[in-house]
Amino acid sequence: MEKKTFYITTPIYYPSDKLHIGHCYTTVAADALARFKRLAGYEVFFLTGTDEHGQKIERRALAAGKEPKEFVDEIVAWIKNLWKLLDISYDDFIRTTEKRHMQAVQKIFQKFYEQGDIYKAKYEGWYCTPCEAFWTERQLVEGNCPDCGRPVELVAEESYFFKMSKYVDRLVEHIETHPEFIQPVARKNEMINNFIKPGLEDLCVSRTTFKWGIPVPFDPDHVIYVWLDALSNYITALGYMSEDDSLLKTFWPANVQLIGKEIVRFHTIYWPIFLMALGLELPEKVFGHGWLLLDDGKMSKSKGNVVDPIVLIDRYGSDAIRYFLLREISFGADGHFSEEALVQRLNFDLANDLGNLLNRTLAMLKKYFDGRIPERGEAGPEDEELLQEAAMLPQKLEALMDELQLSGALAELWKFIGRANKYIEETAPWALKKAGKESRLQTVMYNLLESIRFISVLLSPFMPKTPIRIWQQLGIANYPELHTWESLKTFGGLPAGISTQPGEVLFPRLELTAEGGPVRQATKKDKPQTTKQPQKAKEKQTEGLISIDEFARVDLRVAEIKEAEKVQGADRLLKLIVALGEEQRQVVAGIAQHYQPDELIGKRVIFVANLKPAKLRGIVSEGMLLAASDDEGNLTLVTTEAPIKTGSKVK
Ligand code: ME8
Ligand code: MG
Repeated sequence: MEKKTFYITTPIYYPSDKLHIGHCYTTVAADALARFKRLAGYEVFFLTGTDEHGQKIERRALAAGKEPKEFVDEIVAWIKNLWKLLDISYDDFIRTTEKRHMQAVQKIFQKFYEQGDIYKAKYEGWYCTPCEAFWTERQLVEGNCPDCGRPVELVAEESYFFKMSKYVDRLVEHIETHPEFIQPVARKNEMINNFIKPGLEDLCVSRTTFKWGIPVPFDPDHVIYVWLDALSNYITALGYMSEDDSLLKTFWPANVQLIGKEIVRFHTIYWPIFLMALGLELPEKVFGHGWLLLDDGKMSKSKGNVVDPIVLIDRYGSDAIRYFLLREISFGADGHFSEEALVQRLNFDLANDLGNLLNRTLAMLKKYFDGRIPERGEAGPEDEELLQEAAMLPQKLEALMDELQLSGALAELWKFIGRANKYIEETAPWALKKAGKESRLQTVMYNLLESIRFISVLLSPFMPKTPIRIWQQLGIANYPELHTWESLKTFGGLPAGISTQPGEVLFPRLELTAEGGPVRQATKKDKPQTTKQPQKAKEKQTEGLISIDEFARVDLRVAEIKEAEKVQGADRLLKLIVALGEEQRQVVAGIAQHYQPDELIGKRVIFVANLKPAKLRGIVSEGMLLAASDDEGNLTLVTTEAPIKTGSKVK
C-alpha cells in the first residue's frame, strides 16, 4: 500500500529579534500535528525556517552595527536552539539566505517575467516596514498601518509589478468552491470583503532603495520583494526549480499551512496567485490561528511586552509550556498568557489529573501486586464504559486533529484521564482487596495500567518528554511496539508480568510567589525544615500544638447545600450555594470527581465561615467545606450525625 503523505509548514520567522512565547505557538502547534500524523502512520514533511531578507532586517542589523548576514546568523542559531529545547521535530529548516532558495526564487521571478505576469512601472504609495507591506492611501487607518497601527513611510521608486488582476477571478472561484482552503471561515470572509471585493491592486514585487534581498536576475538594481521571496520557501525547500524536485512531487500540495492571523492576507491572496502563475496546485488548507495575548494586548517586541520562552522552559519544562500553549488557545481564537494561568493548568491538569492517575495506580499496584502488572481476571460492569472510550479515543483524537482542533483533542484526552480516575472510585480497588476479590482486583489494576498506556501514546505528539517518563515507570520503556498507533488497536496489549518502576512525581504542584516566580509546593516528602537550634524540653513537647484560643479563631458552622453545578472547563470544581441560617454563601469546592451535583443538594456539612474569600477560575469562593481524604484518593464530606439547624456553631 502506498504510504499516505502529509506536508505541514509554519511561517518562516523574521530573525530580527529573539522570539517570544507567542511565536512559539505556531511552531509548537505545527509540531504536534506533524508528530500526530507520524504516529498515525503518515510520511510527514514538516518545514520551518527563517525569513532573512528585507528592509526591516537590514535596518535592525545596521542599528546593531553588524552586517545583515552576521546579524541574522546569531539569531538563527538562537532560534534553532529554542526549537531544540521545545522538541520541534522539523524535517527541514530553510533559510532564505541559502543558495538553494535564492537561485530558485530568481528562476521563479524570471518565469513570471517571461510569461508576462510582471511589468515595470513607478510605485508611489505607503510602506509599513515592520509588516513589510504596501498600502494605498485609502487603506491606511488614521495615517497608520491598518495591520499593526504603526507609522508608514512614503515610497516612490521604480518597481516591478505583478498582475494580480489576471488571476483574481480564478482565486475567488477557488476560495468559493473550496470551503476548507481558508480556515477558520471568518478569515475567508474578511479576505473576500476587505481585500478582493474593493478591487485587488497589482502588487509591487521589487525594491530599489535598499540592497538586502535577492537581486532581480535581469535587473540587479532591484531586489525581489521580501514576501515573494519568503512565500516561495514552501516550495523551494522541496526542490522546486532545482535539479532534484522529488520532494515536491511527493509532498506538494501542502496539507496544512499554519500561520498567525495577521499574515492570512499574504497566504490566501498573493501566495495562491503566485502558485497559479507557476502552474502549481494550491495548498489544501491555510489555517490562520489566533494570537497569544497579554493583559495589554498582543505580545510583540515593539510593545515591549514579551515573555522569554527560554526563561519559561527553564522554570517549568518544555512539555508543560507545550501543553499550556496547545490547551489554552482554542481553535483559531486568541488566548491569554499569564504565568498564573500556566501554573493553574500545570497544577490542575498535569499534577492532579494526569500525575495522580499514574501515582495512585502505581502505588496501589505496589501494595496489591508487589508492583507487577497482573493478568486480567474477572470482568465487571464498571469496565464497559472505560474500554469503549479507550477503543474510540485514537479515532476521536485524529478527527479533531484533522480539523486542527488541538485544544479540543487535548480536552478529549483529559476527559479520558478523568474517566480513568473515576474508574478508580467506581471499582474501589481497596475494597476489592479487603473483600478478597483478587481476580476482579487484577482486572481493575490491569485496565488502569492499560488506560495509562493509551493516554501516554496519544499524549506523545503534544508532550514528547512526558510519555517517556511514564513508560519508564510502567516498565515498558524498552518495548517500542507498545508506543505505537498500531498498539492502540487492541486494549490489552500491555504484557502481564512486567515490573513497574514508580519514579519521581511527573509534575510537582507549584505555587506562585508574591514576586511572580513559581515555587514547588511542599509535599509530604519535603518536610518543613526543623530549626537546628537546641530547644528546651518543654517547648519540644508542645511544638506544633495549638491553644484552645487559636482553634477558636476558626469559625466552623453547619451549612446546608442548596445548589450545586459544575464549573465550566474545570473537571474538579463544583460551584455551590450553601445556607448558614439566614445567610447564603457561594463556594467553589474541588470535589467534582467525587460527587455529582445532584446528590449534594440537602446535605448538611461542616463549613469554615471565616476564611478569606478567594477566586478560583474567576469565581469567588467565600468559605470551605470540610472533607476527609486518604492517600488512595477517596474523599468524603464531613456531615452532621443528627439533624441540627444550619448556622449552628461547631466547636
Ligand atoms: O510574519 N501569538 O514572521 P514573524 C501568536 N516572516 N502567534 C504569534 C504572535 C503572538 N503573540 N506573534 C507572532 C512573519 N506570532 C513572516 C512570515 S511566511 C512566508 C513569512 C506568529 O516572525 C505570527 O502570527 O513576524 C506568525 O505566524 C509567526 O509568529 C512568525 O511571525
Ligand atoms: Mg510579525
